[in-house]
Amino acid sequence: MQARGGIEGSPGSQSLRSCGAATGAPAACGLLGDSAARDYSRKLRLFNDFAAPELGLAMAGLGLAPGMTVLEAGCGTGEILHGLHEAVAPGGTVVGIDLSAAHARAARAAAPAGAAVVQADLLRACIAPRTLDRIWSLNTVNHLRDPVAGLTALAQLLRPGGRLALAQSALLPEMYFAWDSRLERLTRGAVRRYYQARYGLDERDLRGARNILGWMRGACLRNVSVRTLVIERVSPLGRADEAYLLEAIFRGTFGERLRPFLPARDYAALARLCDPQHPAFALARADFHFLQTLTLVTGEAPS
Ligand SMILES: C[S@@+](CC[C@H](N)C(=O)[O-])C[C@H]1O[C@@H](n2cnc3c(N)ncnc32)[C@H](O)[C@@H]1O
Repeated sequence: MQARGGIEGSPGSQSLRSCGAATGAPAACGLLGDSAARDYSRKLRLFNDFAAPELGLAMAGLGLAPGMTVLEAGCGTGEILHGLHEAVAPGGTVVGIDLSAAHARAARAAAPAGAAVVQADLLRACIAPRTLDRIWSLNTVNHLRDPVAGLTALAQLLRPGGRLALAQSALLPEMYFAWDSRLERLTRGAVRRYYQARYGLDERDLRGARNILGWMRGACLRNVSVRTLVIERVSPLGRADEAYLLEAIFRGTFGERLRPFLPARDYAALARLCDPQHPAFALARADFHFLQTLTLVTGEAPS
């Protein structure tokens, strides 16, 4: 059954769970370990709260209008669905797809009334070709083993002239410790070696997303344009900024797991900077200055 806009599982449809991972199709395991069983909901919520102002700016350029049909591919815990829903109301249709059962469940619980969330592999989305006005995808296509194939599959869901918007954070290295570029460089290298070891990847795999412009052109999208925003925060930090940097970065991305990848003295210096109980805690410093890029590439489906 296909609902208005050609999306199975959108409001009014009985087949919300009728595709992809939810029907027993083989669960994909992505480049960075994503699967139906994976759950990093907390980290996603922290990032979305933290980057909300810049994500709002990025979305403002999508040309969303009432009545449009929009898909969020890799919707995570669903924070963006609210903005999409508001922008296409009245009369619009919003659907989020995510591979992870936990993320899809969280997104469904948080989604605005009328938006649908489907647990599925975006490569097997149950959406009729040439039916969507917009697709938004943030920090997701870089998790696919073949990003160009993923974008090609997504592009086929767009109406002629419909637009796909791909957003990706951190194409340039972040600045965490403005006062100690050496420790920052060593920490960045340790994070890279941790991911390489954990997922059996090399640096080209990990940094492949730097070529999102090339991926979009490789998927035959037209009128591809790119814009990079900077997420910039200085002390004193707001609540969402401190929560993201402390929990998602200092504990979740750095933390104990970097110990094997740093010389002991450097690991100890990093641990002091990341410890809210220590006088050297980075987020309490008057000179704390954080920079991160957020790149948005958009392209149009051929007519
Ligand atoms: C880094 S998270 C980004 C989530 C969300 N866009 C955000 O920024 O908060 C990547 C998301 O893509 C999902 N994902 C990875 N591979 C996928 C696939 N093949 N199909 C659908 N979702 C996928 C993951 O489960 C995860 O929720």
